[in-house]
Amino acid sequence: MNIVRTAAELRRQLALWHMRDRTIGFVPTMGALHQGHLSLVRIARERAERVVASIFVNPAQFAPGEDFERYPRQPEKDAGMLREAGCDLLFLPEVETIYPPGHTTFVEPGGPGGPGEGLEAAHRQGHFRGVATVVCALFNLVRADVAVFGKKDAQQLAVVRKMVRDLHIPVDVVAGETVREEDGLAMSSRNAYLSPEERRAAGVLYRALSAAERAVHAGERRGGEVRRILRETLDAEPLARVEYAEVVDAHSFQPLDTLSGDIVLPLAVRIGGTRLIDNFQLAVEG
Ligand code: PAJ
Repeated sequence: MNIVRTAAELRRQLALWHMRDRTIGFVPTMGALHQGHLSLVRIARERAERVVASIFVNPAQFAPGEDFERYPRQPEKDAGMLREAGCDLLFLPEVETIYPPGHTTFVEPGGPGGPGEGLEAAHRQGHFRGVATVVCALFNLVRADVAVFGKKDAQQLAVVRKMVRDLHIPVDVVAGETVREEDGLAMSSRNAYLSPEERRAAGVLYRALSAAERAVHAGERRGGEVRRILRETLDAEPLARVEYAEVVDAHSFQPLDTLSGDIVLPLAVRIGGTRLIDNFQLAVEG
């Protein structure tokens, strides 16, 4: 596996592959890698002949007061894991490579009735603007045929899909399933912040989603009732503070009164000082 840090080095490597008509799969990350990230690399392997991963802790997607400074950084360990998972090229840019001096142009994914509004967008000012901008820049640098994103960040995935459609970006976006720990906790780089007691309490997100899923499978179609079940389970955990627990349409991310079609149950919950998100995606008949 090659490691490149500059746009010029990246271009040189990509030019060789483009010349030979190799298809390219791309997995953007912020590092502190776990099995969830590696599952996306494996999907990229199946879909393309060469796989590029990036590690870039993107300052533009952290709001003031968030964890940008203390976000875990372990590039050597990450590089070893990527090599083993079959990644061909790791792009490890500096901030100045992604955002050239004087950079002022941003991708603004907001807009009424779409996934760029509400939930994460409402609770993290400027977050999706930062995500859309960096993903657009990375797409232009890597020029991949396929890009793989995790369903763990369901609203981010919807924002990226919409950006690709709205701006005619020539890439296929593929989604990977959420990889979980034994108790159901979704793997996340931020799980490293949890104390042992908080780690135990964090299992409540999966329990709440499972309880809501059981109700939907048993025929519950009232959004209000599914929200109540999510809340009730989460509120029973003394270390958990709910930011939102919702029932939304999978494409627009707008709240639903009556469940039908593809739906998402997105959660954002603070366990102590750590903010965790998770979701289930369900297909509801009738
Ligand atoms: P990061 O949180 O590092 O996640 C990188 C990719 O891994 C995202 O597509 C995310 O959805 C996926 N992922 C995270 N946890 C997962 C899990 N448990 N199972 C499966 N996939 C998982 O998301 C970002 O970085 C950034 O916002 C980024 C898209 C790189 C832009 O900066």
